[in-house]
Amino acid sequence: MKFAENLESIETLLLLNVDFKKDDLIFEKIKKYITLNKGSHLMFSQENSGQYLNFLTRRLNNLYRVQLDETHLNEQTEEICSLISEFTAIGGGKYPKTLTWPFRSETDIYIQEDNYSESGLGWQTWIASYAMASLMDEEIFDVRDKKVITLGCGTGLCGIAAARFGAKRVTLTDNSEKCLLRAKKNIKLNNVTCATTKFLDWDLYASKKFFDSFEDHEVDFEVILAADCCYEMKMAFTIPFVILNIFKKTTSKNPIAYITIQVRGELFTEVETLEKNLKNLSLQVEKKVIGYTPGRLFGNATFTFLKIWCGS
Ligand SMILES: C[S@@+](CC[C@H](N)C(=O)[O-])C[C@H]1O[C@@H](n2cnc3c(N)ncnc32)[C@H](O)[C@@H]1O
Repeated sequence: MKFAENLESIETLLLLNVDFKKDDLIFEKIKKYITLNKGSHLMFSQENSGQYLNFLTRRLNNLYRVQLDETHLNEQTEEICSLISEFTAIGGGKYPKTLTWPFRSETDIYIQEDNYSESGLGWQTWIASYAMASLMDEEIFDVRDKKVITLGCGTGLCGIAAARFGAKRVTLTDNSEKCLLRAKKNIKLNNVTCATTKFLDWDLYASKKFFDSFEDHEVDFEVILAADCCYEMKMAFTIPFVILNIFKKTTSKNPIAYITIQVRGELFTEVETLEKNLKNLSLQVEKKVIGYTPGRLFGNATFTFLKIWCGS
């Protein structure tokens, strides 16, 4: 992985993992790594500086007092990526690793995860997909006998859960080949025969290529599931069009989309914009905030849960 990509990865991880900022264990481990592995003084060369790097450097220095060594930036940033993903992924540990996700209906789903440097943001199973899966488990909404597509499937939990909870057919999509490969392995691991994977890139929503991976007869989705798919402002603009395009193209009547997004302070504007843009496309939107109640398995996180459909 290139230095710039590594920096981007670290920055995203820092932004997304709010708790990480307070986690001394991670900080100590990174610091120890840097100290042991050469760096003592931070001296970025002129060509590497610039706003972005300064921002990151300040963050790393202020928050973690990490010292990078300019002669080993590539190796160091890659290692930091792995360390951050190791410590911030649920459970931590070596990669690939398998986690068991329990459900009220006593269904266990097994998900193997890569590390961040392997699979980008889909490397871990985000809690929003566990929330989505739990809502199916709790029968808050129903996918039984439905044809389902999941957007930005990552490791695949949400789609595999849909298959487990009775969907007729599930298509897990992502624009990351690494994620699709991992999702495919997880489908196999859970032995859900009605689930498959396909490439789908939200950024192509306005292009003829958008449905390229699908045969016409395969676009008959009744339910769209999107867990944690609005963490950048541009997604608040693309996801509504992605949903609208699928609604327009599907041969099924009355398709419905469900979105879960963990409530994170720093994403407030993105989620508000997403909701506004969905409505601007004349889509019907019902919004709920769901949180922990006794008996729920997804801990004390809070989620925005959107139900989206056409017409009145
Ligand atoms: C935060 S992860 C969520 C993964 C999964 N839904 C979950 O909750 O565990 C976002 C996912 O969206 C995918 N993604 C990001 N941009 C995308 C795009 N333009 N088109 C399709 N998928 C995209 C990433 O590869 C990643 O798997």
